[in-house]
Formats: sequence, C-alpha cells, structure tokens
Amino acid sequence: MNRPVMEGLRLNVPAHVRHARLIAWVAEVAALTEAADVYWCDGSQAEYDRLCQQLVDAGTFKKLNPELRPNSYLAITDPSDVARVEDRTFICSARQEDAGPTNNWMPPAEMRALLQTGDNALFRGAMRGRTMYVVPFSMGPIGSPIAHIGVELSDSPYVAVNMRLMTRMGKAVLDVLGDDGEFVPCVHTIGAPLEPGQKDVAWPCNKTKYIVHYPETREIWSYGSGYGGNALLGKKCFALRIASTMGREEGWLAEHMLILGVTDPQGRKKHVAAAFPSACGKTNFAMLIPPEGFEGWKVTTIGDDIAWIKPDAQGQLRAINPEAGYFGVAPGTNRLTNPNCMDSLKRDVIFTNVALTDDGDVWWEGMTDTPPAHCIDWQGKDWTPQIARETGAKAAHPNARFTVAATNNPVLDPEWDNPAGVVIDAFIFGGRRSTTVPLVSEARNWVEGVYMAATMGSETTAAAFGQQGVVRRDPFAMLPFAGYNMSDYFQHWLNLGDKLQATGAKLPNIYCVNWFRKGADGKFVWPGYGENMRVLKWILERVDGTAQGEAHVFGVSPRYEDLNWTGLDFSREQFASVIGIDRAAWQQEMALHGELFDQLAYHLPTALVQTKQRIEQQLAA
Ligand code: OXD
Ligand code: MN
Repeated sequence: MNRPVMEGLRLNVPAHVRHARLIAWVAEVAALTEAADVYWCDGSQAEYDRLCQQLVDAGTFKKLNPELRPNSYLAITDPSDVARVEDRTFICSARQEDAGPTNNWMPPAEMRALLQTGDNALFRGAMRGRTMYVVPFSMGPIGSPIAHIGVELSDSPYVAVNMRLMTRMGKAVLDVLGDDGEFVPCVHTIGAPLEPGQKDVAWPCNKTKYIVHYPETREIWSYGSGYGGNALLGKKCFALRIASTMGREEGWLAEHMLILGVTDPQGRKKHVAAAFPSACGKTNFAMLIPPEGFEGWKVTTIGDDIAWIKPDAQGQLRAINPEAGYFGVAPGTNRLTNPNCMDSLKRDVIFTNVALTDDGDVWWEGMTDTPPAHCIDWQGKDWTPQIARETGAKAAHPNARFTVAATNNPVLDPEWDNPAGVVIDAFIFGGRRSTTVPLVSEARNWVEGVYMAATMGSETTAAAFGQQGVVRRDPFAMLPFAGYNMSDYFQHWLNLGDKLQATGAKLPNIYCVNWFRKGADGKFVWPGYGENMRVLKWILERVDGTAQGEAHVFGVSPRYEDLNWTGLDFSREQFASVIGIDRAAWQQEMALHGELFDQLAYHLPTALVQTKQRIEQQLAA
C-alpha cells in the first residue's frame, strides 16, 4: 500500500492500519496544520498512563493522592475555556434553511475558506510544534449495527485520554474499519501553535473558537477550545449534531437522552429514555436508588447523556448508548443526590476545574455538608469558607466535570454493551421550570407527546456560556444539538411515529416531567433524586395499563392516590402545588409556545399547530 511520507514529517502509520483513505486524510490534515509529529492511539492502558504522565509533566494535570483517589487526575483549564460555546457553534449545511433558525450558519465554502483553504485559514499551521493524535473511536458497541465510527485528529493529549474514557477507542476500532470502512472525520485543534523555543502554558487554547459541522459531508472541524463538548468530538458534535442528520436520512434518532433499565420486584424489566437539558440531572436519574417503599425495585444505567435509537424488524425502538463513559457535572453531586455516582468516582477519574484539597483530593460545592477548611480553587487561588462568604468565590467552577468510564458505575446495566440495544418502553422529556409545568403528564398519543417535547422550556445552566436561570425553549433538550432544521426534526419524529404505527407495533408512551417547581418560599417542593422513582413507577404502570390518572389540557397526570407515598411525608397540598395546572400561567406559556412556533414557521408540522390550537381552545373554555 502507498504510505505517504511527507517531507520533514513521518506519519508513523502503524503496520495494522490498512485504510488508504484514512492515511491520506491524516497526511492532508498534518500538512495543513503543520503538526510536528503524528501519534496513532492504540487505546491501551499503558498508552493512557503514559499520556497522563505527560500531562502531569506539562502542568495540565495534577495527580491526585493515590491513597484517596487512585489513578486519578485534576485538570485546570484556562478561565476562558470552561463550557460549550453555543454562539461559536455552526451547522454549515449547503442551504441555510437546512440549518434552520436555531443554529448558527455560514455557507460551507466561506467557512472552509476561514478554517481550511484561505491564505490565513485558522487551521493552517495551527498544530505547529505539537503532536497530532489520531484517535479512532466507535460510538456504540464495536461492530453493533447501530454503532458508527469516527476518527478525531487532535493536538490535545487531554482530548486523547478523555476520549479513551468516553468512547471505545483504539486499535480494535481500526480493525473494524478495515481497508475501506466509513468513518466521520473530526479535526480538532486548540489553536495554539508553539514556535521553536516557545514555552507552553498549562492549558493552551485560543480566544477565537469555531465548532463547525458540515452535515452533507459528515465532517467536524473544531478550533480554539480544549474543553468538553467543544473538543471531545464524539460527544455533542458527532453523536448528536452529525448523527441527528444521519438519523434523519436513515430513519433513526440521535437524542440527548439518558437510558435506564427498571426492574420490578417480580423481575420484570423495562427501559426508559429521558431527555433533559444539560445539567438538569440526567446522570442522577440514570443512577437513581429507589427509596423506602420500593424494596425489590432496581434502576440500572445504560447511558447518562446520549441515546441512538433505531426501529428493529418488529417495529420496536431499540436504543444504545453511543458513549462508554460519563462527562458529568461535579457540583451538587454527593452521597445523598447520587451515591452511585460518588462510588463511580472513587478511582480512575479525570476531574476538570474542581478544587484541590490540602491532602491531594478533590472537592466541589455540595460534595459534603462541611466544606474543607482550606483548598486551592479551580483558578489556583487559596479558598476557605470565609473567603467564599466574603467574596462569593466558588471552589469549583459551576460547570466543573468528571470523566469516568461507564464500567466504574456500580449499577451499570448488564445490557449496556449489547450491540442490539434495548427496547424503549417510554420516553420522558423534562425541563427545569420553577412554575407552570406539572410534575408529570402523559401524552395521550404520539403527536401530543411530540408537541410536549417540541415546546419544552428550561431555565439555563452553567453547561453553556451565557446568562443562567433564564427560561428558554429547548425543544427535545436538543436546542444546542440538533444538526438540522428544528421543524424538520419535529417532522422526523412525527414520520417515525407514523411509520411504526403502520407496522402495528406499540409505540413507547411519552411523558413530560418537571422536578423543579418551587413554592412561595423559593424552595423546590418536590424532593427529587431517589423520590423520582415514585413518578417512574407510575409511568411504568401506565405503560402496562394498570395505573389511573386524570386528564387535563396538557395530558394525563396522576392524582395523589395514584402514587406510592410509603416512606415519604408529602401532603396532598404539596402534591397539588407540583401537579396543578394554573390556567393563567398556561395562557402565558402558550404565548411562549406561539413565539417558538413563529420562529420555526418554516416547515413547522401542521399537526403541532393543530395541537396548540386545541390546547388554547380548551384553556379558553
Ligand atoms: C454535556 C452537556 O456535557 O449537555 O453533556 O453540556
Ligand atoms: Mn448533555
């Protein structure tokens, strides 16, 4: 085979790599970025350990105390590189209307000139002085009919080690790719070339950032950030934005959903996929421990963030988790909110932007009731509870994260790696709403469920740059992640429902939940966390047709007596305050649905407009 050797740069192609197109592309990107070296990741533990040590030597990582947190590291980023940058994220489809009004767009040729082809293109020479890592990864169990392969080229060793925890990464993927397999090309640079003799910084990145997707050619180009969803391109960029366009073409779904299994005391198991916006408790829900009164019930995790869902030959929807690890929000995670997560984090973790304790361990707000007397905060400054009181300084950044392999999770579902996926019995959509939206409502049919999901609103969180706590419409929790026009995405859901209904298969029920309603005192009324099992049980009983409920304008909700309250002191009045439909609030809510529909008027499905009219008429009656 022709193995290109570029002048002054060896591509170092391992003997087992037989894919000429892949090698040619690696050569092309290495030439464009002028990488100093090329390294092909094999995904081994030895490689991971070596790269982590290299990151320690470079000052990017601190090794944590091995007695308290074995084989774990803390990374501290540049203060400007701490979250996804939605305003710098682009869907460069050929036609602007295919990106739609909720995505940033630029004509592909213009974007390519800016990034790749122009004289001053940003990727030109962007990896000078750095090694380019070739990171082959499978989204989904290797070889699964639902899985797809990507290859990320990145000049960040932080990305390489995180990708090993977050995906099935390395040589086994190249073996499946063979000599002509399909892969999604993902190019990533931190945009910080090193000139000869220039000293590196601990977290190199660039003020200019571009997170760019070309849906027609299924390519991803990411510039300037080393952080999370901006840089680990298998996650939001591939598994949601590009995969949603693949799913639209091929008749499947790529969703911002956790997947969990629930087994009842009789050993019957069901599976639920649930969409919530970023930092709204997906990881907690996916690892829930049933409370008192639910002896014999068990919840197991298949995924905590993304689901790929395909109809099988019987018309059932089967889901896999394309990821192999969790990149979760640390602040607020503790032994009460998520004990299984805390157990997952006992070892083999990469923490990013949490605080370092004096004994070499980590801490974040909400981890323990009593904060440490002193620690080093995420910006490297001394932090004490007194400093926090006086200045409001946070020990950990509110979007501080942990990266950990799924196999660390004590309640990992035995089916999590099943190439065939699991059959979904119910979809749940949830937002963070302090008012208006009831604890749980069931859609009476698929169209009403799509309407609920499409009009979902949520208060913004620290997962993305921008103002926090503002209600924005976040259809299907996919606002930052849909790779194509949102109205066409709604239509795709409706079409899939029609297609499945035509096979005679039972469609999953659809639910809308809101754990976040607040009382007059400004406090959450619903206790949340493990207590969400009470709602989950009602949902599963509705799927079985055994639970009762009461219909209202927006769907069907349980009455007080329809939930199991054993072990929880929660009065009828409290329940009324989280389940009630306030007519005036709903009239205002419908006006917000109207604003969304105005924005999405192009290709907005008529069925959704009719559903809105029906709800409005009932509210007016
Ligand atoms: C995530 C996010 O990192 O949604 O999962 O921001
Ligand atoms: Mn997410």
